[in-house]
Amino acid sequence: MTKRIGILTGGGDCPGLNAVIRGVVKSAVCRGWEVVGIEDGFDGFLHAEKCRVLGLEEVRGILPRGGTILGTTNRGNPFCYPIMRDGKVEQVDVSDEVVSRIGLLGISGLVVVGGDGTLKIALELMRRGVPIVGVPKTIDNDLLETDVTFGYNTALETATDALDKLHSTAESHHRVMVLEVMGRYAGWIALESGIAGGADVILIPEIPYDLEKVGAAIVERGRRGRRFSVVVAAEGAFPKGGDRVIRECAGCKTVVERLGGIGEQLSRELGGFLEMDIRATVLGHLQRGGSPSTFDRCLGSRFGVKAVELIDAGAFGQMACLKGRKICSVPIEDAIRTLNLIDPDGEMVRHAESLGIMLGR
Ligand code: F6P
Repeated sequence: MTKRIGILTGGGDCPGLNAVIRGVVKSAVCRGWEVVGIEDGFDGFLHAEKCRVLGLEEVRGILPRGGTILGTTNRGNPFCYPIMRDGKVEQVDVSDEVVSRIGLLGISGLVVVGGDGTLKIALELMRRGVPIVGVPKTIDNDLLETDVTFGYNTALETATDALDKLHSTAESHHRVMVLEVMGRYAGWIALESGIAGGADVILIPEIPYDLEKVGAAIVERGRRGRRFSVVVAAEGAFPKGGDRVIRECAGCKTVVERLGGIGEQLSRELGGFLEMDIRATVLGHLQRGGSPSTFDRCLGSRFGVKAVELIDAGAFGQMACLKGRKICSVPIEDAIRTLNLIDPDGEMVRHAESLGIMLGR
């Protein structure tokens, strides 16, 4: 039977989004279905011109391209949608309009590609009767119930490459180089790129750091003749005695806090301990841009195919996921129960410490 399905990408962009879109379109077209692409996340439903049919022609050649051909936004929550009224921004609930537009478009299955914020919105819309399947996207790798999210691998490659480059200049100038990486409240990018890039210190939000111990570790390296150090700090890292509150917008439960600045802060703090030049580099959005890695192209494509299979099976409320080498599915609800954070006493942290890397404690 001919179906019409929809696809949207929400939240921050990440490498591999186009692979998912292509995977959805190709496998839907194979079944004789039609795909409607919704631009700029859920916002697209509020504007007729932002909903367009995606055929094979529209997805040709997009596999190696970064970003998303559909556009995205990390502000578009229909349950607290920002509008200007009397020169002020107000949050209004436009979810009824979105639900009715989905019905009017004749969409009998909607693929929502997003991280925890977008998938939380998807779940709310599900409760209002919208048939949704999810695909886990984020460079932060902070979603539960999947071994990994797509986009994370490419971001790791970028961060590792930056660490390699910082090493040579750190060594030449006998400096401490601090690299700030993304990841929100999770330290995955910092920890794995730090191991891969041979960092001397890795600071993650899951282990509040002891500044004196970090300084002492760098001094000790100097005594052993290593006159430079490379530090990787997750943007969510914070010192012992401080606190990291995961901030959510009260009305809509979407994480809104803007992180960043730990690289400069740490450089200043370390400056009080060390008689060495210290420089901070913020890797920023370079981690989200560019062509997806082979791994992310393949994972994104397979997630796209799985999403269509889930719609075909009527398995709404499920999210595609990776378990081992198999693509499976889990309830969206389980994936967003809480954040997938690093276990400070877990194997990966232990292995990093066994490699002689200082984890701030
Ligand atoms: O969630 C992805 C992410 O890149 C985070 O790692 C980072 O904190 C945030 O998005 C940055 O968001 P923005 O693009 O709004 O600056």
